[in-house]
Amino acid sequence: MENRQINFFKSKDFNTVLKPFKKGTVVKIDSFDIRENQKELNIGLFGWYAICPSKELKKNKLYYFSLYDEPLVLYRDENKNVRCIKNICPHRGASFFGGTLSGGVITCPYHGAKFSSGGSCQNLDRITCRHIVDNNYDNYAKRIHLSQYKTSEKNGYIFVHFSKKSETDLNNINEDTPVSNYELYENGFAHKDYVFEEVLVDFKCDWSRIIENHLDILHIFWVHGDTIPDKDVNKNVLVSFNQKININPKYIESIYYYKNDPTKEFIRIKYIPPGRILIYKGDPSSSRYLQVLDHIPLGKNKARVIVRHYRKFLQNKLLNNLLLFKETQRKIFYKIFDEDYMILKTQTYNHDMGFISKDEIKLLGEDRIINYFWKWYKRSEDNDKPWKNNNKTQNLDVYDKVILKYPPEIKKLEIANNIDIIRKTIVRFAAPLIFFMLII
Ligand code: FES
Ligand SMILES: [Fe+2]
Repeated sequence: MENRQINFFKSKDFNTVLKPFKKGTVVKIDSFDIRENQKELNIGLFGWYAICPSKELKKNKLYYFSLYDEPLVLYRDENKNVRCIKNICPHRGASFFGGTLSGGVITCPYHGAKFSSGGSCQNLDRITCRHIVDNNYDNYAKRIHLSQYKTSEKNGYIFVHFSKKSETDLNNINEDTPVSNYELYENGFAHKDYVFEEVLVDFKCDWSRIIENHLDILHIFWVHGDTIPDKDVNKNVLVSFNQKININPKYIESIYYYKNDPTKEFIRIKYIPPGRILIYKGDPSSSRYLQVLDHIPLGKNKARVIVRHYRKFLQNKLLNNLLLFKETQRKIFYKIFDEDYMILKTQTYNHDMGFISKDEIKLLGEDRIINYFWKWYKRSEDNDKPWKNNNKTQNLDVYDKVILKYPPEIKKLEIANNIDIIRKTIVRFAAPLIFFMLII
């Protein structure tokens, strides 16, 4: 058995190594080539989150979700534009769950108030006795208004701009970052030439633990070594890499080059806060694969991941459907998520209990990017305070059934996917064979 070590860093205490780095210098230590000449990330926890694939938003369908425990609803209005409203009726605070959507008009299930896609109440008479408020009718009507966040639709994703608070007038929301930061084309990926499969999974663990997991290259070899179909991802044979980290206001990026072929990239991991990670297999300009991972902080220890796997393949839809088993790719993803799940759950517990503190753990060389993420996350939490509702939500899991759509018990998804594989195999291969046999 070959056993070559990943020579990222030589077992020095990570924090002591960090100190001498100054902005504007290029530092080379062992296999590290760290460019710190750029500024720090200037994006915090507010900004654009990819919430779901566009195809999830069907006509007249209300799509319930939450961000940092704030209950929200997505839907398409009469012009097919996406709306993101607070799932709280401005009359008496009921949820729209159980209500209806028709022609862009949403009706509350409690007293039947109807709201136009612009957000104003269309049937005030329904929820008030007109003669009581006659004097102040217009004023009252103005106050009964849906509260909303900005949305955008790009590359087949629905994005929501989560800001300090929702507004009745969207013009009052300033965008923290442009949504173009997240466009695949802007990130060096001509996605139109590619086909993709995607998987959505809900996790009952901390949101930031999952991001950290996707920034952590070392665990890939150990945890997923038997699952990822790549000869260099192996539990027993470790390949050496050089790592280069780029930090700039829009993203942080960690590039791994083969040590025995320093010009060749193995993998490039790019984190564009708050929620997106792009993983390129090799140099983006020539990469045949790209993974887009979106992390959605549904609430306290509740998070969703959307993973989309792009690959260069036949563009013809028919051939594509005939030859490509999207379910096989999905099967790999379910397995990978399942492999991570227990680790993420226990790590969440350990963190919430305060055990993952500086003096209880030691970050080593390759964890430099994780350390950077932790510091950024702490700083952003302190600045933005998105978890302000946290303490209040304990034991209030009324929304869980509505919001957790992709079972956190990943096994269920895996089984459903396996059944699909069997069904498709029979339809595609066995059925024509039986037909042929019947003929002869
Ligand atoms: S709470 Fe919605 S109409 Fe009364
Ligand atoms: Fe993982």
